Amino acid sequence: MFRKSFVAVIAATTLALTACGGQSEAGGEGGSDDTITMGFAQVGAESGWRTANTKSVQEAAEAAGVDLKFSDAQQKQENQIKAIRSYIQQQVDVIAFSPVVESGWDTVLKEAKDADIPVILTDRAVDSTDTSLYRTFLGSDFVEEGKKAGEWLVEDSASTEGPVNIVELQGTTGAAPAIDRKEGFEAAIAADPDLEIVQSQTGDFTRSGGKQVMEAFLKNTPDIDVVYAHNDDMGLGAIEAIEAAGKVPGKDIKIITVDAVKDGMTALAEGKINFIVECNPLLGDQLMDLAAKVVAGEEVPARVVTEETTFTPEQAKEALPSREY
Ligand code: AHR
Repeated sequence: MFRKSFVAVIAATTLALTACGGQSEAGGEGGSDDTITMGFAQVGAESGWRTANTKSVQEAAEAAGVDLKFSDAQQKQENQIKAIRSYIQQQVDVIAFSPVVESGWDTVLKEAKDADIPVILTDRAVDSTDTSLYRTFLGSDFVEEGKKAGEWLVEDSASTEGPVNIVELQGTTGAAPAIDRKEGFEAAIAADPDLEIVQSQTGDFTRSGGKQVMEAFLKNTPDIDVVYAHNDDMGLGAIEAIEAAGKVPGKDIKIITVDAVKDGMTALAEGKINFIVECNPLLGDQLMDLAAKVVAGEEVPARVVTEETTFTPEQAKEALPSREY
């Protein structure tokens, strides 16, 4: 099989891969012998972050000469499982995917392992206890992101008297970033008993979901002080709902989000969002490097954490002109 004969070649010439373009025959026997074939099962196109992530993976594959087979699961786990099975059938050299939810992957990952196809988790984790089912996990520390959001609020509310009512727009139910950002935020705000999450619901990481849920929150909950949205898009949807209700986002109701995509950063610079925790979607180059190593049979770290920062309105104004996504 292509993958096995390729291992010997790539061990000596990993760097030369960047010069190899073109299409392979999906890694099957008789396929081109100098091109890695990667099957990538993307979550969907639910957010600005996801669009930037997809672009990064596609451009990095092109630059590294990797033959990328790409599928969009439209935020459905069954579609991702189907895509992974099809990559196994096509005998790709490596599978990478960003799991829409954390649970329920063991069977298909075992199928990939039995077919001797290495798997790289990108962006999101799975909750499988058998870590031999994947080779590495490249992506953010979502608990840390939630903590940074909560710590900012604790500091910002230090001089406020009385209760601070927070509504939370959660990401996709069961997704690692939704679970972890909630956990990190709750841990951080526990430092101040005046801070209370009074409503929490999923907006599925979409702008329309954020708007719809925020409309309901505004009807049901008097005196909302703060929105904590698990991503920029839901925060931007919440801004529309807040403005439609005759309130001023960023002033009457403070908004904290995660991602720092251009639209979010623009709203931050305009003072409609108060604080953004960055989640970097530009994972493509690191993914291609890891893939080349994994296919070559080299050791890779079990976890590669993305470096990230946070932004205030002033910092957003400075960063926006050179923001890549
Ligand atoms: O998994 C990363 C998250 O997924 C991003 O924060 C969000 O915008 C996306 O949909």
